[in-house]
Amino acid sequence: MGYPISNETLTYYKNFLKKASPVTPSFHVVLGSGFGQALSGLSPEWILKDQILFSDIPNMISTTVADHKGSFVVYYNEKLNRAIQFQTGRIHGYEGHSAQTVVTPVMLARLAQIESFILTNAAGGLLPHMHAGDAMVITDHVNLTGQNPLIGTNPTSPLTQLEIGPRFTDMGNCYHKAWQNQIRKILNQLGHNTTEGVYLGLLGPSFETHAEVRLFASWGLGAVGMSTVWEAIALKHSGAKIAGISLISNLGAGLSSQSLNHEDIVQTCRLSAHTIVQSIDRFIKEVLTNEKN
Ligand code: HPA
Repeated sequence: MGYPISNETLTYYKNFLKKASPVTPSFHVVLGSGFGQALSGLSPEWILKDQILFSDIPNMISTTVADHKGSFVVYYNEKLNRAIQFQTGRIHGYEGHSAQTVVTPVMLARLAQIESFILTNAAGGLLPHMHAGDAMVITDHVNLTGQNPLIGTNPTSPLTQLEIGPRFTDMGNCYHKAWQNQIRKILNQLGHNTTEGVYLGLLGPSFETHAEVRLFASWGLGAVGMSTVWEAIALKHSGAKIAGISLISNLGAGLSSQSLNHEDIVQTCRLSAHTIVQSIDRFIKEVLTNEKN
């Protein structure tokens, strides 16, 4: 048991990375729904090196949601001699997949020695004064999906057979504190309305009832969505560094007069994801430049 990542899958993916870039990517960035086109806003120092679809990797699960075509996209920055990888498209629990299957793309990256991760998503805002289009830097999460990717035998690496992390993982400080502040500062510099808060992960696919939203808001939670928490758990277990950003694609159900639908949410993301991707670009360059000095 453990993650459904075979030796063949990992070896194929590592070979893809090796061909794509002279160095292992320093960051893996998961792009949420509607973020994909925002990659065109990356600064020109990032040279597109190669892209691979999940469906081209042997034994790899593919995505079913129309907007979420799963792929890894590798960019290289010559000046810094560093690479980054974006993941467009995610697998979700509401598609009927287990938590362990859902985390396979990020854990594939992790098993290929990528150490730093940025998880983005679209989420319903729960805090007063939030607006559609805002960004929320994730300070922590609440996992109410009823599932956990670490259930079963403690996951092991398909290459070494060694356990990836401890059986009982401390989830304290899951989201890197200094990175939260740094990302928030950059989002503000770019003029993007930004708050911070706790992300609530639910299974979906139905949106919340108005009573649920009132309850979650009364708990002081920041935003609600259907992704991210399992990835964060699996990555924290593996010792990765993590940052998270929610794009507030709508107010939680019942907090505004609008009823919720997926197309409107994706549309809001398309409009607002650009500055979020630009801030990630700037943040990563700052981190990598500081590492060099
Ligand atoms: N609820 C759950 N998931 C979401 C929402 C929401 O309001 N918006 C975007 N993803």
